[in-house]
Amino acid sequence: MRRAIVCCWLCAGLLGAAAAPAAGARQAAIASAHPLATAAGEAMLARGGNACDAAVAVAAALAVVEPYSSGLGGGGFFLLHRAADREQVMIDARETAPSGIRYHHFFDADGGLIKGASTRAGTAAAIPGLPAGLAHLTKRCATLPLTQTLAPAIDLARDGFKVDQRYARIAQLRESLLRGSADAALFLDGGRAPAPGYVLRQPDLARTLERVAGRGAAAGFYRGPVAQALVATVNAAGGAWQMTDLAAYRVVERAPVRFTYRGATVTAAALPSAGGIALAQIMGMLEHYPPGDVRDPETAHLVVEALRRAFRDRARLGDPDHVAVPTAELLKKDVLKQYVTEIHRDRATPLAPPTAAAEGSGSSNTTHLSIIDQAGNRVAATLTINLLFGSGLVGRGTGVLLNNEMDDFTLRADLANSFHLRGGAANAVAPGKRPLSSMTPAFVEDDKGVLILGAPGGSRIISQVLLVGLEYLRRPQVDLQQLVALPRYHHQYWPDRIEVEPGGFSADWRAALEAKGHRLHVANRRWGNMQAVFQSRTTGAAQAANDPRGSDVAWY
Ligand code: DON
Repeated sequence: MRRAIVCCWLCAGLLGAAAAPAAGARQAAIASAHPLATAAGEAMLARGGNACDAAVAVAAALAVVEPYSSGLGGGGFFLLHRAADREQVMIDARETAPSGIRYHHFFDADGGLIKGASTRAGTAAAIPGLPAGLAHLTKRCATLPLTQTLAPAIDLARDGFKVDQRYARIAQLRESLLRGSADAALFLDGGRAPAPGYVLRQPDLARTLERVAGRGAAAGFYRGPVAQALVATVNAAGGAWQMTDLAAYRVVERAPVRFTYRGATVTAAALPSAGGIALAQIMGMLEHYPPGDVRDPETAHLVVEALRRAFRDRARLGDPDHVAVPTAELLKKDVLKQYVTEIHRDRATPLAPPTAAAEGSGSSNTTHLSIIDQAGNRVAATLTINLLFGSGLVGRGTGVLLNNEMDDFTLRADLANSFHLRGGAANAVAPGKRPLSSMTPAFVEDDKGVLILGAPGGSRIISQVLLVGLEYLRRPQVDLQQLVALPRYHHQYWPDRIEVEPGGFSADWRAALEAKGHRLHVANRRWGNMQAVFQSRTTGAAQAANDPRGSDVAWY
């Protein structure tokens, strides 16, 4: 029997909003950043698979059709909820620093940062986690073998798919990076960004996916010829990988961050993501005030003041397997209450800056998928290779595009990364360590039902999830498409300014915040590509929504 599924990629007209399900039945829903990936997940549900089966298929398909966002050469976090016993766990498939990496790889003799060392060289790439993540999900909660769940991705890689405008635009931006090698030039058409409609075939990637499907991740990816090719490519580009780094890669199961806010329950990514802790801190602070519309300047002021305090504390966060992070202390009610006493309703309270300013730059990408099945199992996964097309390095003959996640480490306290983030010793580079992330897959549950959400956007992921979560909880009715389309603002402590989306806020709104002493910066583009699903507690009806920004080709 075919299941009632609400799938979304630019919802309008695709499968349409399904009618309310029959009494007792619940609808499944999938939202991902690409229609072909959503279709891969839908095919798994249609054949009786669960949310985990769908998540593996969607993630693998995204690796093929959005090669600039995520892939086998990257990593991410999978937040899982099992309906049968309400168990929740985060599968941490974040990349790890290779054992041979040292600080001198990033700095020249005068102590200057070597340009591109953490973004486009062998030293930029960390050991990938996604293949192990997909295999782990398959073992832990899927019902279908990898040979079935990876099949849509294999077909898309081998037979090709028509690139869209978004692909064409992003490839154009990264043309010079991709011309760096014959393997990376595969993403181009004769050395140039392809036009929309060009059929992109990735036969090497199809073979690598087949190996993973047939032999598993350990034998098919982390050992043998694929691993050898990756090590050779990275080291030829100045990196320091060893075969043992790949063989030693393990995903980690972690307890997600869980907290309540005005009677609702929020579950979000734990360390090495900063996201869950930040959300718990911010919402813990905001609970001291009456709830308000996040677009209202008075509420926006409070949201910004809470954001800046949480982002100040981000400097204390890092991989919990390598450093002692005072998580309990950061989440203590009286610590948050103390922060609240320092917030003024009528004026901004700039905090002491970290040290001398140094700002990074760079556009970026990542991807998110949200799934709920008919039984109520959920997956929220945010996956990335970090910046657009990652490091641009492709393992010779593997089709695997490697990440540049090393840029998420704090290379030195006065140096910002590509998201303008500065950090502390807790996020220093160390062999085997995971760089601190902002990726925040999350569940928000209240009397209305459950919202599953997440987004790309580097540091701005946290404010996106926050704003949509707060508005969802404040509103009695759920119009998911409207929620993900809401205009966004962001503050991350440093640089000390509120970033706002162009066209999102009136001159009066900006003046009201400036009157309180905030510095405003209107960004030159909108940000994020949120993917969200909602299932109603009472009716079982589901909604899925794609961020309208996802089709905005002027986005970068
Ligand atoms: O883990 C992180 O926080 C970043 N590597 C995510 C990168 C990202 O979201 C880029 N998207 N626009």
